Amino acid sequence: MNVLGIETSCDETAAAVVVDGRHVLSNVVASQMREHARYGGVVPEVASRRHVEQINRVLQAALEDADRTLSEIDAIAVTNRPGLMGALLVGVSAAKAIAMARNLPLIGVHHIEAHLYANFLDPDPNRAKADFPAVALVVSGGHTDLFHLRAHGDYALMGRTRDDAAGEAFDKCARLMGLGYPGGPAIEAAARTGNPKAVSLPRGALPGTWEFSFSGLKTAVRRAAEADPAPSVADLAASFQEAVVEVLVAKTVAAAAFVGVNRVFLAGGVAANTRLRERMQAACDAAGLALFYPPILLCTDNAAMVAATGYFHLQAGHADRLTLNTIASESLAVIATR
Ligand code: KG4
Ligand code: ZN
Repeated sequence: MNVLGIETSCDETAAAVVVDGRHVLSNVVASQMREHARYGGVVPEVASRRHVEQINRVLQAALEDADRTLSEIDAIAVTNRPGLMGALLVGVSAAKAIAMARNLPLIGVHHIEAHLYANFLDPDPNRAKADFPAVALVVSGGHTDLFHLRAHGDYALMGRTRDDAAGEAFDKCARLMGLGYPGGPAIEAAARTGNPKAVSLPRGALPGTWEFSFSGLKTAVRRAAEADPAPSVADLAASFQEAVVEVLVAKTVAAAAFVGVNRVFLAGGVAANTRLRERMQAACDAAGLALFYPPILLCTDNAAMVAATGYFHLQAGHADRLTLNTIASESLAVIATR
C-alpha cells in the first residue's frame, strides 16, 4: 500500500511516499530554517506563507522521486496536530483536496506519534525490526517526553520536562554561547573539540520522578558564559551537551527496567545528536536493551514518518472524514484513553 504523507506543522514543508509503513520511496523536505534563523526562531506567520508557496512543488517532487502518479496512491496521511495552526492548515487543506479529488482515505496524524514511527522506517535488514512494547524518549524543540508504548495506538506518558524541552535548551544555550540557530547541530559541532568535564554544570535529575528540568542548566550555562575568564565555547558546549545527554540516558534506561520492556526508541530532532546516540547505545548494551533510532534525516521533521503512522492507523481500521480539524496542542497520551 502506497501512502502519501504530508507534514507542515512547523517550519518544514514535507511530502513523502511510503510503502506498507516501512519502505521509503521518497522523502522531500523543504526547510525554512535559513529564513527563520534571522529571527532566532520560527515566526508562525512567515512559516504559513512559505508552506503555501512550497506545498504544490514539494508534493509534485515526492511523487516524481517515488516514480508514482496520484492514481497509484492508496491513502493520504497528514499531520493535523499539534503545531502552529496556520502552518498545519496548509498541509491539511492540501491533504483534503487530494483525498476528495481522488476519493482516498484521509488519516490525521499526531506529530509526536509520527516521530515515534520514524523508527519503523526502512530497518537495516540485519537488525531487528522496531516493534511494541517499548519505552520511547521523544526529544525535540517542543518536547521531552518519556512514553511507555504498549501497542500501536496505546501509549502512556511516564514523564516530561517541567520547563524547557531538550531541543529548546540546545537552542537557547547556543544563543548564549553566540552560536547559530538551530542550536542543536551548532552545539554538537562546537562540542567536538571541547572537554565535557571542563565546566561543572547541574544535572537537574529530579530523582524519584520520570520528569526532566533544563532551566537550571540553562541558568548555569549563562553564568559560565558570562564568567571572567569564560570557558572556551567548545568546552562549554561539550559540558552542556554532556549534562543533557547524561540525564536523558539515565532516565530512559531506568524507565525501561521499571516497566519491564526490552526495547528503547529514540525520536525527535535531538535524537540526531551523535553523543546522545552513542551514550544511549552503550547504556542499552550494558542493560541488555535493544535500541532503535531513526537515520538522522528521519529524526528531524519529515513526512515519511507521517505516512508510516497513517499506514498503521489504516491497518487498525482508523480513518478520518473530510471534516478533519487541526489542533494546536494535544498530548499524545490522550490517544491512549479515547
Ligand atoms: O523534531 P524537530 O525537527 O522539530 C520539532 O521541534 O518538532 O526538532 C528540532 C529540535 C531543535 O531544537 C534542534 O536544535 C534540535 O532538534 N536538534 C538537535 C540536533 N539536531 C536538531 N539537538 C541536538 N543535537 C543535534 N544534532
Ligand atoms: Zn518534530
